[in-house]
Amino acid sequence: MLSVKNLMVFFENALALNDFSMDVQEGRIVGIIGSNSAGKTTLMNTLSGLIIDMRIKEKRRGGERITVYGDIIFKGENIIDTQPHERVKKGIVLCRERHPIFPESTVFENLKMAGYLRKNAQVKEMIESVFELFPALVNLKSRKAGFLSGGEQQMLSVGMALVVMPKLLLLDEPLLGLSPMMQTLLVEAIKGLRNDSGITVLLSEQFARPVLPMIDYGYIIENGMLTLAGTGSELMDNPEVKAAYFGV
Ligand SMILES: Nc1ncnc2c1ncn2[C@@H]1O[C@H](COP(=O)(O)OP(=O)(O)OP(=O)(O)O)[C@@H](O)[C@H]1O
Ligand SMILES: [Mg+2]
Repeated sequence: MLSVKNLMVFFENALALNDFSMDVQEGRIVGIIGSNSAGKTTLMNTLSGLIIDMRIKEKRRGGERITVYGDIIFKGENIIDTQPHERVKKGIVLCRERHPIFPESTVFENLKMAGYLRKNAQVKEMIESVFELFPALVNLKSRKAGFLSGGEQQMLSVGMALVVMPKLLLLDEPLLGLSPMMQTLLVEAIKGLRNDSGITVLLSEQFARPVLPMIDYGYIIENGMLTLAGTGSELMDNPEVKAAYFGV
């Protein structure tokens, strides 16, 4: 479904992604594991096309130069120069790091706003399914999103991405800051999404422990470079992964 080829992203002369290649097959859950500043967010922003907006903004204000090389093939088409909103229309939807929601609007309003690109009837249906996926949100429907707990906001922001009806859902550190219980809940929800709706998921995480058991395939990145790839269980059994991520 998605094939990333020799991706390089520079912020001025600093290399954030270095010759990075990977594949995501349809219907799979694929993980990107890497520590702080490994390049996870840069990858997500490049896949969603946000980096194009960032590059234009930086250029306008005479800021740093952002350069992107390489190819992103989505369903047979190279989208490296495709605008972010066009990528959303193609079904690539990013749920960004640290749940940016509209804090002054209610949970329900947030979900409705997320669906502005889709037809009203579809949005209604998708909002229903978000409430099925995250029953905890039902009673919070009319609450201002800014008053939700971190975990609830995370559920809301994943819900907002779902309302857009993604084919490929990009989740940048969805488990960040969540309690183990909340993490389990979200992991189950993501697995359910794939099983019930056939949505392909690419998610990034710093911590391998909660992620490796749920993914079909994973890539480990360090300093913008791919260091290891394999199925979830291959990575779990890998001595380097064990040493670096499980402390054994
Ligand atoms: N706008 C930017 N300008 C300059 N350097 C940047 C910018 N964004 C990211 N970088 C650099 O690129 C590298 C990768 O950063 P990135 O945010 O992609 O990492 P990350 O894996 O998402 O980290 P974290 O786990 O902290 O979210 C880092 O060295 C970072 O300092
Ligand atoms: Mg990040």
